[in-house]
Amino acid sequence: MTTAIEGRELTQIGPGTVMGELMRRYWIPAAMSSELVCDGAPVRLMLLGEKLIAFRDSAGRVGVMDHRCPHRCASLFLGRNEEEGIRCIYHGWKFDVFGNCIDMPSVPPHQDFKHKVKAKAYRVVERAGLVWVFMGSRAEVPPLPALGILDIPEDEIGVSLIQRDCNYLQALEGEIDTSHFGFLHAGHVDPDDVLEEEPFRYTITSRAPEYHVLDTAWGTQYGAYRPAGPGLTYWRCANFLFPFWTQVPSGEFASHVHARAWVPLDDGHTMFCFLWWKRGTSAMTQSQPAFKDGSPIGGTGRGNKFLPNTTDWLGRWRLAANPSNDWGMNRAAQREKTIYSGIDGIHLQDQAITESMGPIVDHELEHLAPSDQMITRTRRRLLMAARALRDRGVLPPGVESAGIYRGARSGYFVTDDQSPWQEIYAKQLASCLGAPSTPLRAAE
Ligand code: FES
Ligand SMILES: [Fe+2]
Repeated sequence: MTTAIEGRELTQIGPGTVMGELMRRYWIPAAMSSELVCDGAPVRLMLLGEKLIAFRDSAGRVGVMDHRCPHRCASLFLGRNEEEGIRCIYHGWKFDVFGNCIDMPSVPPHQDFKHKVKAKAYRVVERAGLVWVFMGSRAEVPPLPALGILDIPEDEIGVSLIQRDCNYLQALEGEIDTSHFGFLHAGHVDPDDVLEEEPFRYTITSRAPEYHVLDTAWGTQYGAYRPAGPGLTYWRCANFLFPFWTQVPSGEFASHVHARAWVPLDDGHTMFCFLWWKRGTSAMTQSQPAFKDGSPIGGTGRGNKFLPNTTDWLGRWRLAANPSNDWGMNRAAQREKTIYSGIDGIHLQDQAITESMGPIVDHELEHLAPSDQMITRTRRRLLMAARALRDRGVLPPGVESAGIYRGARSGYFVTDDQSPWQEIYAKQLASCLGAPSTPLRAAE
């Protein structure tokens, strides 16, 4: 079980918290590059419990900084983004994207001390259509994680953001919880009604899959297995990658190049950031699962409807279906079993179920089962890494060795190979990458 103390250490991400300090060792995808226009309006960003503004200057450079002006703490969100910097509208002090005060017009020239004033600005890079922020100290800036998706040409990478109104951990745990699939998403589907070759079918032939869970260099991994005909096994594997990334099994292993971040905005809000390869298989490129007669399987509708973005700290990329309208619950569909959950859309089903737990789940009320072993192992891995950083200054996985992420891939495949799971995985990965795979076990 997870104690109340462990629960707090796992879920609190503000400055000075155990997990907040771990998160601040990594690059964080924070916004779409397209959200920031040269000399355009600044954007409010909430990130790891800090209120920030982001803006793009006249030269196209992005600044991300504390929203409070270093003079007397007026919000720079109200500032004028002009001529290579943001100017506070209170007394006109101006800051460049690095936080340097470059103009102090309210002070007589002989008393000007702008060279001594600095806004708290964070390091920023842009990659794959996203603005990435490093919120730790500058001396320790790591490389970006060597995720396979970041090796893909930028015009072949799709990106989407969706805010979720709950803590990052319970959102993330929804991704590595394979045993919910046959219920939440497919509890109404009879395997006999689905074509043999439909990947969806295997996940419902056995609704209580057996699976292996192991620590890996990048975090944790599960390999769930089900029989798939004489001598054949259907495997689905997924990963947790430090500090908040997942890779899910819903695509063919060979081409399922993607990564999913669960970025903590504050303790009760998360930004889901999905990067996928447009030429691979993923929820974004596959056709909707169908019955034998060609009709779509209920509850697997595609496309999310968004509310208009607002300028609020938590006003970006919110879904129209949310707690205020019971996520569009259709009780008739639920009752008649056309949609098991009554909620249409696999992502929305996951969103509803994790938001329904409240902003932060009360871990002391849980009764974790053997089927939750990926979750318990991932919690332990995160907690041990955060405590090792706090107590002994041990850097968590991937900070100094971003290459460990290259060994991580997820997806499904059928094989007649009866070797142990780790060997099967290593062979599958090697066949995709054309090279020996990274050893799975962490050097602990
Ligand atoms: S508070 Fe910003 S210039 Fe005075
Ligand atoms: Fe799910």
